[in-house]
Amino acid sequence: MVSRGNWGGRLGFILAAAGSAIGLGNIWKFPYITGIHGGGAFVLVYLVCILIVGLPIMMAEIYFGKMTQKSPVGAFEHFETESKGFFHYHRAGKAMKPFYLVGWLGVISAILVLSFYSVVAGWAWHYLYLSFSGFSGTDAEVTSLFGKLYVNPYLQLGWHTLMMGITVWIISKGVSKGIEKASKILMPILFIILLGLMFYALTLSGGMKAVKFMFYPDFSKIDAEGIIQALGHSFFTLSLGMGAMITYGSYLKEDVNIVKSSIIISILDTIIALVAGVMIFSIVFSYGLKAASGPSLIFKTLPVIFAKMPGGQIVAILFFILLIFAALTSAISLLEVAVSYFVDEKNWTRKKATIILGFFIYLLGILSAVSSLKIMNESYLDFFDNITTKYFLPVGGLLTILVFAYGIDHKSKMEELGFKSWVYFLFNWTIRIITPALLIFIILNKMGLFKI
Ligand code: PFF
Repeated sequence: MVSRGNWGGRLGFILAAAGSAIGLGNIWKFPYITGIHGGGAFVLVYLVCILIVGLPIMMAEIYFGKMTQKSPVGAFEHFETESKGFFHYHRAGKAMKPFYLVGWLGVISAILVLSFYSVVAGWAWHYLYLSFSGFSGTDAEVTSLFGKLYVNPYLQLGWHTLMMGITVWIISKGVSKGIEKASKILMPILFIILLGLMFYALTLSGGMKAVKFMFYPDFSKIDAEGIIQALGHSFFTLSLGMGAMITYGSYLKEDVNIVKSSIIISILDTIIALVAGVMIFSIVFSYGLKAASGPSLIFKTLPVIFAKMPGGQIVAILFFILLIFAALTSAISLLEVAVSYFVDEKNWTRKKATIILGFFIYLLGILSAVSSLKIMNESYLDFFDNITTKYFLPVGGLLTILVFAYGIDHKSKMEELGFKSWVYFLFNWTIRIITPALLIFIILNKMGLFKI
């Protein structure tokens, strides 16, 4: 049996898990979807989703990992129950429910997500490189930089190679010497840069307008599409639905409280998204630009402003370092999901698993880096992004919460979570009915089967 590794301490686990959660989702995606959906009301819906969808699934995932000390496939297999009924398979002469498939879905999702996540993180590397010589020229010239990068496969591949190389290097060092150490260095720097940028941005003329935009709910601006986006994003941002928290939870020793840790990780993730939003909108409003510019908000809109604002070059450098650090601590958690499966179930050494999987994911990422390649009329990047965030992750999250709610007895859950009985009562009905219902609602909606 190859040794799996453990966290050195509670802080290491919290920083690594927060590092997984805090990523491109917080600094790139959350601000732009908040911009598109009109601000405050969307933020409020998002916070409710974190509470009733994200938090329970986070607790379930950390529970599965901590209790079984196994990667997602092994963890789900551990809880398989004997039952014939609909959909079963035979193991050692018994009819079992194939829960392990949920773990498999997680491993496949992690591989697909990392393949394009690394390419998008590569854009941040390119923009950091551009920031060193400073953004200058007309608005159209600065905006066109993104198009030039997007159509240049060699450039995109180069940055993708660098990003995957660093990810593989950290993971090959192991749980405490690789993931934990990297998180302990990168996360505090990330917090400091973000706070510094936020205070600077608030001194600009658009600061108060940004705070009002983010925290003053105008319900006439939120529609069904916004609610679905908020729901879906609430668990992407917390790294749920693909076993990342199961994997990180599996390296925990006994002494960590699942409920407290889940709350701390979710609060950190939420604060970072809100701070990133306030910071970005302060800058955008101060220069009279639009909040609703979509995915290009940070790669086109912000550089136009960096070219104009006093100290813009330093702000740009810090901003893209922030983005890269956030992406890196998430990318390592994605690779770890896949690596832990091969280490646990196939007895591969960590080095072998890391190199083979890292290389495979790197090759898969080439499809996303070469933007002229298309599948079903869209780029591979959009295709992989869509199938994972629209289908695989919600389905993974749904199955995880169902196994947790219905497959594990009350006594074990109560003991491990340590809830008072009335809190457990509320929690139990939330995870049995409300969380699954909301997830089913997202999945059906994305499939076009249910419209509101
Ligand atoms: N939570 C990350 C983000 O917000 O960017 C993305 C992510 C990382 C999702 C790891 C899932 C995961 F397993």
